[in-house]
Amino acid sequence: WVPEKLELDGKTYISEEKYWNISPNLIKLTERRLLFDEANPLNLLKRRIVNHMHKKHRKPGNRSPIFAVCEDQRRIVSVFENFDSLLTPLDHVSRRTSDTYYVNREYCLRAHTSAHQHSLIKQGFDNFLVVGDVYRRDEIDRNHFPCFHQMEGVRLYSADELFGTPQPGKDFKLFETNGERTKEKQEFHAFDAAKVLELKLKETLEDLCRELFGEKAQMRWVDAYFPFTHPSFELEVFFGEKWLEVLGCGVIEQKLLESAGAGSKVGWAFGLGLERLAMVLYGIPDIRLFWSTDTGFLHQFQGKQPGDSIQYVPISVHPQLYMDISFWLPENHDSTHMKSDAYDLIRNIGGDLVEQVEIIDEFYNPKTNLTSHCYRIIYRSNERVLTKEEVNVVHGKITEEFIRLYNVKIR
Ligand code: PHE
Repeated sequence: WVPEKLELDGKTYISEEKYWNISPNLIKLTERRLLFDEANPLNLLKRRIVNHMHKKHRKPGNRSPIFAVCEDQRRIVSVFENFDSLLTPLDHVSRRTSDTYYVNREYCLRAHTSAHQHSLIKQGFDNFLVVGDVYRRDEIDRNHFPCFHQMEGVRLYSADELFGTPQPGKDFKLFETNGERTKEKQEFHAFDAAKVLELKLKETLEDLCRELFGEKAQMRWVDAYFPFTHPSFELEVFFGEKWLEVLGCGVIEQKLLESAGAGSKVGWAFGLGLERLAMVLYGIPDIRLFWSTDTGFLHQFQGKQPGDSIQYVPISVHPQLYMDISFWLPENHDSTHMKSDAYDLIRNIGGDLVEQVEIIDEFYNPKTNLTSHCYRIIYRSNERVLTKEEVNVVHGKITEEFIRLYNVKIR
Protein backbone atom coordinates (compact mmCIF):
# COMPACT_ATOMS: atom_id res chain seq x y z
CA TRP A 1 0.00 0.00 0.00
CA VAL A 2 1.75 3.11 -1.26
CA PRO A 3 -0.44 6.15 -1.83
CA GLU A 4 0.69 8.77 -4.30
CA LYS A 5 1.09 11.41 -1.65
CA LEU A 6 0.68 12.17 2.02
CA GLU A 7 -0.89 15.30 3.38
CA LEU A 8 0.00 16.16 6.96
CA ASP A 9 -0.05 19.37 8.98
CA GLY A 10 -1.01 21.38 5.95
CA LYS A 11 1.69 20.20 3.59
CA THR A 12 1.68 17.61 0.84
CA TYR A 13 4.53 15.15 0.35
CA ILE A 14 4.92 13.02 -2.77
CA SER A 15 5.71 9.44 -1.82
CA GLU A 16 8.47 7.28 -3.22
CA GLU A 17 7.72 3.59 -3.32
CA LYS A 18 11.28 2.59 -2.52
CA TYR A 19 11.18 4.49 0.80
CA TRP A 20 7.53 4.58 1.82
CA ASN A 21 6.93 2.38 4.88
CA ILE A 22 4.00 4.06 6.61
CA SER A 23 0.96 1.91 7.30
CA PRO A 24 -2.64 3.17 7.12
CA ASN A 25 -2.90 2.42 10.80
CA LEU A 26 -0.03 4.74 11.60
CA ILE A 27 -1.65 7.52 9.64
CA LYS A 28 -4.71 7.11 11.85
CA LEU A 29 -2.47 7.63 14.88
CA THR A 30 -1.23 10.94 13.49
CA GLU A 31 -4.82 12.17 13.56
CA ARG A 32 -5.35 11.60 17.27
CA ARG A 33 -3.23 14.45 18.71
CA LEU A 34 -3.24 13.09 22.25
CA LEU A 35 -1.25 16.00 23.65
CA PHE A 36 -4.07 18.39 22.84
CA ASP A 37 -6.69 16.21 24.52
CA GLU A 38 -7.26 17.57 28.02
CA ALA A 39 -8.59 14.24 29.25
CA ASN A 40 -5.39 12.45 28.27
CA PRO A 41 -2.79 11.90 31.00
CA LEU A 42 -0.05 12.91 28.54
CA ASN A 43 -1.63 16.34 28.30
CA LEU A 44 -1.70 16.64 32.10
CA LEU A 45 1.94 15.65 32.38
CA LYS A 46 2.94 18.03 29.60
CA ARG A 47 1.25 20.92 31.40
CA ARG A 48 2.82 19.92 34.68
CA ILE A 49 6.33 20.05 33.24
CA VAL A 50 5.69 23.25 31.29
CA ASN A 51 4.26 24.95 34.40
CA HIS A 52 7.27 23.92 36.41
CA MET A 53 9.73 25.19 33.80
CA HIS A 54 7.84 28.47 33.49
CA LYS A 55 7.81 28.95 37.24
CA LYS A 56 11.44 28.12 37.88
CA HIS A 57 13.13 29.68 34.87
CA ARG A 58 12.50 33.37 34.49
CA LYS A 59 14.05 36.44 32.99
CA PRO A 60 15.92 38.83 35.27
CA GLY A 61 13.28 40.63 37.32
CA ASN A 62 11.41 37.35 37.69
CA ARG A 63 8.32 38.46 35.76
CA SER A 64 8.51 36.45 32.56
CA PRO A 65 9.20 32.81 31.80
CA ILE A 66 12.17 32.28 29.51
CA PHE A 67 11.16 29.09 27.72
CA ALA A 68 9.10 29.38 24.56
CA VAL A 69 6.81 26.37 24.12
CA CYS A 70 6.56 24.94 20.60
CA GLU A 71 3.80 22.45 20.01
CA ASP A 72 2.90 23.18 16.42
CA GLN A 73 5.93 21.99 14.50
CA ARG A 74 5.25 19.91 11.39
CA ARG A 75 5.62 16.23 12.16
CA ILE A 76 7.12 15.35 8.82
CA VAL A 77 10.68 16.58 8.83
CA SER A 78 13.56 16.38 6.43
CA VAL A 79 16.32 13.84 6.77
CA PHE A 80 18.52 16.86 7.41
CA GLU A 81 16.41 17.92 10.40
CA ASN A 82 16.00 14.47 11.88
CA PHE A 83 19.57 13.25 11.36
CA ASP A 84 22.17 15.39 9.55
CA SER A 85 21.67 18.60 11.52
CA LEU A 86 22.12 16.53 14.68
CA LEU A 87 25.42 15.08 13.41
CA THR A 88 24.05 11.55 13.20
CA PRO A 89 26.60 9.38 11.37
CA LEU A 90 25.54 8.28 7.89
CA ASP A 91 25.65 4.60 8.85
CA HIS A 92 23.68 5.00 12.08
CA VAL A 93 20.96 2.34 12.52
CA SER A 94 18.29 4.92 13.29
CA ARG A 95 18.45 6.13 9.67
CA ARG A 96 17.35 2.78 8.25
CA THR A 97 13.90 2.26 6.81
CA SER A 98 13.54 -0.51 9.37
CA ASP A 99 13.72 2.09 12.15
CA THR A 100 12.28 5.32 10.79
CA TYR A 101 9.08 5.98 8.84
CA TYR A 102 9.84 7.51 5.46
CA VAL A 103 7.61 9.21 2.92
CA ASN A 104 10.40 9.52 0.40
CA ARG A 105 14.20 9.82 0.40
CA GLU A 106 14.01 13.39 1.72
CA TYR A 107 11.27 13.27 4.31
CA CYS A 108 10.32 11.14 7.30
CA LEU A 109 8.08 11.28 10.34
CA ARG A 110 10.16 12.82 13.12
CA ALA A 111 11.78 10.16 15.28
CA HIS A 112 12.48 12.61 18.09
CA THR A 113 11.70 16.19 19.03
CA SER A 114 15.41 16.95 18.64
CA ALA A 115 14.59 17.19 14.92
CA HIS A 116 13.46 20.77 15.59
CA GLN A 117 16.56 21.97 17.42
CA HIS A 118 18.46 23.21 14.41
CA SER A 119 15.62 25.13 12.82
CA LEU A 120 14.37 26.72 16.05
CA ILE A 121 17.87 27.83 17.00
CA LYS A 122 18.31 29.19 13.50
CA GLN A 123 15.09 31.15 13.90
CA GLY A 124 16.69 32.80 16.91
CA PHE A 125 15.14 30.92 19.82
CA ASP A 126 17.60 30.59 22.69
CA ASN A 127 15.40 28.88 25.23
CA PHE A 128 12.59 26.58 24.19
CA LEU A 129 10.61 23.47 24.93
CA VAL A 130 9.30 21.35 22.06
CA VAL A 131 6.49 18.93 22.77
CA GLY A 132 5.17 16.47 20.27
CA ASP A 133 4.35 13.03 18.99
CA VAL A 134 7.29 11.12 17.52
CA TYR A 135 7.37 7.96 15.42
CA ARG A 136 9.64 4.94 15.44
CA ARG A 137 9.31 1.49 13.95
CA ASP A 138 9.37 -0.70 16.96
CA GLU A 139 7.76 -3.76 18.45
CA ILE A 140 4.38 -3.39 20.12
CA ASP A 141 4.29 -4.41 23.75
CA ARG A 142 3.42 -2.89 27.12
CA ASN A 143 6.24 -0.37 26.82
CA HIS A 144 6.56 0.23 23.09
CA PHE A 145 4.28 1.79 20.56
CA PRO A 146 5.13 3.16 17.09
CA CYS A 147 4.01 6.62 18.17
CA PHE A 148 5.01 8.15 21.47
CA HIS A 149 5.51 11.61 22.89
CA GLN A 150 8.57 13.61 23.82
CA MET A 151 9.47 16.90 25.40
CA GLU A 152 12.67 18.59 24.36
CA GLY A 153 14.36 21.42 26.21
CA VAL A 154 17.10 23.68 24.89
CA ARG A 155 18.86 26.51 26.70
CA LEU A 156 21.59 28.68 25.17
CA TYR A 157 23.83 31.11 27.03
CA SER A 158 26.10 34.01 26.21
CA ALA A 159 29.13 34.39 28.51
CA ASP A 160 27.22 36.87 30.69
CA GLU A 161 24.19 34.66 30.86
CA LEU A 162 26.30 31.70 31.90
CA PHE A 163 28.69 33.35 34.35
CA GLY A 164 26.73 36.42 35.45
CA THR A 165 27.69 40.05 34.86
CA PRO A 166 31.45 40.33 34.40
CA GLN A 167 33.38 41.58 37.42
CA PRO A 168 36.74 43.35 37.33
CA GLY A 169 39.59 40.89 37.60
CA LYS A 170 37.43 37.92 36.70
CA ASP A 171 37.45 37.04 33.06
CA PHE A 172 35.46 33.95 32.24
CA LYS A 173 35.27 32.93 28.65
CA LEU A 174 33.19 30.38 26.80
CA PHE A 175 35.74 29.22 24.28
CA GLU A 176 39.37 28.26 23.99
CA THR A 177 41.47 27.67 20.91
CA ASN A 178 43.65 24.60 20.53
CA GLY A 179 41.71 22.92 23.30
CA GLU A 180 41.36 19.22 23.58
CA ARG A 181 38.28 17.05 23.46
CA THR A 182 38.11 14.94 26.59
CA LYS A 183 35.53 12.80 28.32
CA GLU A 184 34.40 15.94 30.13
CA LYS A 185 34.27 18.58 27.42
CA GLN A 186 34.39 19.53 23.75
CA GLU A 187 37.59 20.88 22.20
CA PHE A 188 36.09 24.37 21.67
CA HIS A 189 34.82 24.92 25.19
CA ALA A 190 36.82 26.53 27.98
CA PHE A 191 36.99 24.13 30.92
CA ASP A 192 35.05 26.41 33.28
CA ALA A 193 32.34 27.04 30.71
CA ALA A 194 31.85 23.33 30.13
CA LYS A 195 31.67 22.65 33.85
CA VAL A 196 29.22 25.46 34.62
CA LEU A 197 27.03 24.33 31.72
CA GLU A 198 27.01 20.77 32.98
CA LEU A 199 26.20 21.96 36.48
CA LYS A 200 23.31 24.14 35.32
CA LEU A 201 21.97 21.36 33.14
CA LYS A 202 22.04 18.85 35.97
CA GLU A 203 20.56 21.29 38.47
CA THR A 204 17.68 22.08 36.14
CA LEU A 205 16.84 18.45 35.54
CA GLU A 206 17.24 17.27 39.12
CA ASP A 207 14.90 20.06 40.10
CA LEU A 208 12.36 18.94 37.48
CA CYS A 209 12.68 15.37 38.66
CA ARG A 210 12.02 16.38 42.29
CA GLU A 211 8.92 18.23 41.14
CA LEU A 212 7.64 15.03 39.53
CA PHE A 213 8.80 12.38 41.98
CA GLY A 214 8.89 14.32 45.23
CA GLU A 215 11.50 16.15 47.29
CA LYS A 216 13.09 12.94 48.48
CA ALA A 217 13.48 11.34 45.05
CA GLN A 218 16.67 9.32 44.75
CA MET A 219 18.51 10.09 41.51
CA ARG A 220 21.69 9.15 39.73
CA TRP A 221 23.54 10.33 36.64
CA VAL A 222 24.76 7.82 34.07
CA ASP A 223 27.12 8.62 31.19
CA ALA A 224 25.48 8.35 27.80
CA TYR A 225 26.13 8.99 24.14
CA PHE A 226 24.17 11.13 21.68
CA PRO A 227 25.72 12.36 18.42
CA PHE A 228 24.68 15.98 19.03
CA THR A 229 25.71 16.42 22.67
CA HIS A 230 28.99 16.03 24.54
CA PRO A 231 29.30 15.24 27.33
CA SER A 232 26.00 13.32 27.43
CA PHE A 233 24.11 11.91 30.38
CA GLU A 234 21.02 10.04 31.40
CA LEU A 235 19.15 10.78 34.56
CA GLU A 236 17.70 7.86 36.46
CA VAL A 237 15.33 7.93 39.38
CA PHE A 238 14.71 5.17 41.90
CA PHE A 239 11.04 4.34 41.71
CA GLY A 240 9.06 1.21 42.54
CA GLU A 241 12.14 -0.77 43.61
CA LYS A 242 14.13 -0.08 40.49
CA TRP A 243 16.18 2.54 38.64
CA LEU A 244 14.15 4.14 35.91
CA GLU A 245 15.65 6.08 33.03
CA VAL A 246 13.93 9.45 32.89
CA LEU A 247 15.71 11.47 30.23
CA GLY A 248 18.74 11.96 28.01
CA CYS A 249 20.67 15.20 27.89
CA GLY A 250 24.00 16.88 27.32
CA VAL A 251 26.00 19.90 26.28
CA ILE A 252 25.09 20.73 22.67
CA GLU A 253 27.85 20.09 20.15
CA GLN A 254 29.29 23.46 19.17
CA LYS A 255 29.28 22.37 15.54
CA LEU A 256 25.49 22.18 15.66
CA LEU A 257 25.18 25.66 17.17
CA GLU A 258 27.59 27.06 14.58
CA SER A 259 25.69 25.56 11.68
CA ALA A 260 22.47 27.00 13.12
CA GLY A 261 23.98 30.46 13.40
CA ALA A 262 24.39 30.51 17.19
CA GLY A 263 28.12 29.82 17.30
CA SER A 264 28.73 32.62 19.78
CA LYS A 265 26.65 30.87 22.42
CA VAL A 266 26.91 27.60 24.27
CA GLY A 267 24.05 25.47 25.51
CA TRP A 268 22.50 22.30 26.76
CA ALA A 269 19.58 20.13 25.67
CA PHE A 270 17.46 17.41 27.15
CA GLY A 271 14.79 15.06 25.83
CA LEU A 272 12.33 13.04 27.81
CA GLY A 273 9.70 10.46 26.94
CA LEU A 274 6.31 11.43 28.30
CA GLU A 275 4.72 7.95 28.25
CA ARG A 276 7.39 6.35 30.34
CA LEU A 277 7.01 9.06 32.98
CA ALA A 278 3.22 9.13 32.90
CA MET A 279 3.12 5.35 33.29
CA VAL A 280 5.02 5.40 36.56
CA LEU A 281 3.57 8.66 37.89
CA TYR A 282 -0.06 7.69 37.28
CA GLY A 283 0.33 3.92 37.57
CA ILE A 284 -0.67 3.18 33.96
CA PRO A 285 0.38 -0.40 33.23
CA ASP A 286 0.31 -0.50 29.43
CA ILE A 287 1.37 2.09 26.85
CA ARG A 288 -1.61 1.28 24.62
CA LEU A 289 -3.96 2.70 27.25
CA PHE A 290 -2.94 6.25 26.28
CA TRP A 291 -4.71 5.61 22.97
CA SER A 292 -7.86 4.30 24.60
CA THR A 293 -11.06 6.15 23.79
CA ASP A 294 -12.74 4.24 26.56
CA THR A 295 -14.33 6.71 28.95
CA GLY A 296 -13.52 4.33 31.81
CA PHE A 297 -9.91 5.32 31.18
CA LEU A 298 -10.30 8.97 30.18
CA HIS A 299 -12.73 9.83 32.98
CA GLN A 300 -10.04 9.16 35.53
CA PHE A 301 -8.05 12.09 34.15
CA GLN A 302 -10.74 14.41 32.84
CA GLY A 303 -11.10 17.67 34.75
CA LYS A 304 -7.95 17.02 36.77
CA GLN A 305 -5.29 19.67 37.29
CA PRO A 306 -1.63 19.11 36.37
CA GLY A 307 -0.65 19.27 40.05
CA ASP A 308 -3.20 16.68 41.23
CA SER A 309 -1.88 13.32 42.26
CA ILE A 310 -3.73 10.66 40.33
CA GLN A 311 -3.50 6.88 40.53
CA TYR A 312 -5.11 4.99 37.71
CA VAL A 313 -7.54 2.22 38.68
CA PRO A 314 -7.61 -0.56 36.05
CA ILE A 315 -10.81 -0.81 34.08
CA SER A 316 -12.60 -3.96 33.08
CA VAL A 317 -11.41 -5.78 29.98
CA HIS A 318 -15.01 -6.22 28.85
CA PRO A 319 -16.63 -3.75 26.48
CA GLN A 320 -18.89 -0.90 27.52
CA LEU A 321 -22.50 -0.48 26.45
CA TYR A 322 -24.29 2.80 26.88
CA MET A 323 -27.89 3.92 26.87
CA ASP A 324 -29.45 7.33 27.36
CA ILE A 325 -32.54 8.31 29.28
CA SER A 326 -34.24 11.70 28.75
CA PHE A 327 -37.22 13.12 30.56
CA TRP A 328 -39.09 16.24 31.57
CA LEU A 329 -38.95 16.99 35.26
CA PRO A 330 -42.27 17.66 36.94
CA GLU A 331 -42.99 21.38 37.07
CA ASN A 332 -40.96 23.26 39.70
CA HIS A 333 -38.87 20.22 40.53
CA ASP A 334 -35.42 21.36 41.61
CA SER A 335 -32.84 20.51 38.97
CA THR A 336 -29.86 20.08 41.29
CA HIS A 337 -31.69 17.70 43.57
CA MET A 338 -32.92 15.74 40.60
CA LYS A 339 -29.32 15.11 39.57
CA SER A 340 -28.18 13.67 42.89
CA ASP A 341 -31.38 11.66 43.14
CA ALA A 342 -30.84 10.37 39.62
CA TYR A 343 -27.29 9.20 40.35
CA ASP A 344 -28.48 7.34 43.45
CA LEU A 345 -31.42 5.77 41.70
CA ILE A 346 -29.28 4.56 38.80
CA ARG A 347 -26.63 3.19 41.14
CA ASN A 348 -29.26 1.45 43.27
CA ILE A 349 -30.83 -0.39 40.41
CA GLY A 350 -27.90 -0.82 38.08
CA GLY A 351 -25.47 -1.83 40.83
CA ASP A 352 -22.05 -2.96 39.68
CA LEU A 353 -23.11 -3.01 36.07
CA VAL A 354 -23.13 0.78 35.96
CA GLU A 355 -19.65 2.14 35.40
CA GLN A 356 -20.50 5.81 34.90
CA VAL A 357 -23.38 8.19 34.65
CA GLU A 358 -23.08 11.48 32.85
CA ILE A 359 -25.62 14.20 32.35
CA ILE A 360 -25.23 14.94 28.66
CA ASP A 361 -28.03 17.45 28.13
CA GLU A 362 -30.04 19.82 30.27
CA PHE A 363 -32.33 22.63 29.17
CA TYR A 364 -35.31 24.69 30.22
CA ASN A 365 -38.31 25.39 28.02
CA PRO A 366 -39.81 28.72 29.12
CA LYS A 367 -43.01 28.15 27.13
CA THR A 368 -43.97 25.05 29.07
CA ASN A 369 -41.97 25.98 32.19
CA LEU A 370 -40.40 22.52 32.08
CA THR A 371 -36.80 21.33 32.44
CA SER A 372 -35.37 18.40 30.54
CA HIS A 373 -32.51 16.15 31.64
CA CYS A 374 -30.70 13.55 29.61
CA TYR A 375 -28.44 11.03 31.33
CA ARG A 376 -26.03 8.69 29.64
CA ILE A 377 -25.55 5.47 31.55
CA ILE A 378 -22.48 3.43 30.76
CA TYR A 379 -22.88 -0.25 31.55
CA ARG A 380 -20.02 -2.66 31.95
CA SER A 381 -19.40 -5.79 33.94
CA ASN A 382 -16.09 -6.76 35.45
CA GLU A 383 -16.90 -10.43 35.01
CA ARG A 384 -18.51 -10.92 31.63
CA VAL A 385 -19.55 -9.39 28.36
CA LEU A 386 -23.00 -7.85 28.78
CA THR A 387 -25.63 -8.49 26.15
CA LYS A 388 -27.81 -5.74 24.79
CA GLU A 389 -30.86 -7.67 26.02
CA GLU A 390 -29.85 -7.80 29.65
CA VAL A 391 -28.80 -4.17 29.64
CA ASN A 392 -32.21 -3.35 28.17
CA VAL A 393 -33.89 -5.01 31.13
CA VAL A 394 -31.85 -3.04 33.67
CA HIS A 395 -32.31 0.18 31.73
CA GLY A 396 -36.06 -0.46 31.59
CA LYS A 397 -36.20 -0.89 35.36
CA ILE A 398 -34.30 2.35 35.86
CA THR A 399 -36.75 4.15 33.58
CA GLU A 400 -39.76 2.75 35.49
CA GLU A 401 -38.25 3.81 38.80
CA PHE A 402 -37.74 7.39 37.53
CA ILE A 403 -41.42 7.53 36.65
CA ARG A 404 -42.58 5.91 39.89
CA LEU A 405 -40.40 7.94 42.29
CA TYR A 406 -40.20 11.31 40.58
CA ASN A 407 -43.13 11.38 38.24
CA VAL A 408 -40.93 12.36 35.29
CA LYS A 409 -42.22 12.36 31.74
CA ILE A 410 -40.03 10.25 29.44
CA ARG A 411 -39.22 12.02 26.16
N1 PHE B 1 16.62 12.87 21.10
C1 PHE B 1 17.18 11.94 22.05
C2 PHE B 1 16.38 10.63 21.95
O1 PHE B 1 15.28 10.63 21.47
C3 PHE B 1 17.12 12.46 23.48
C4 PHE B 1 17.98 13.66 23.72
C5 PHE B 1 17.48 14.95 23.55
C6 PHE B 1 19.30 13.52 24.15
C7 PHE B 1 18.28 16.06 23.80
C8 PHE B 1 20.11 14.61 24.39
C9 PHE B 1 19.57 15.88 24.22
O2 PHE B 1 16.84 9.60 22.37
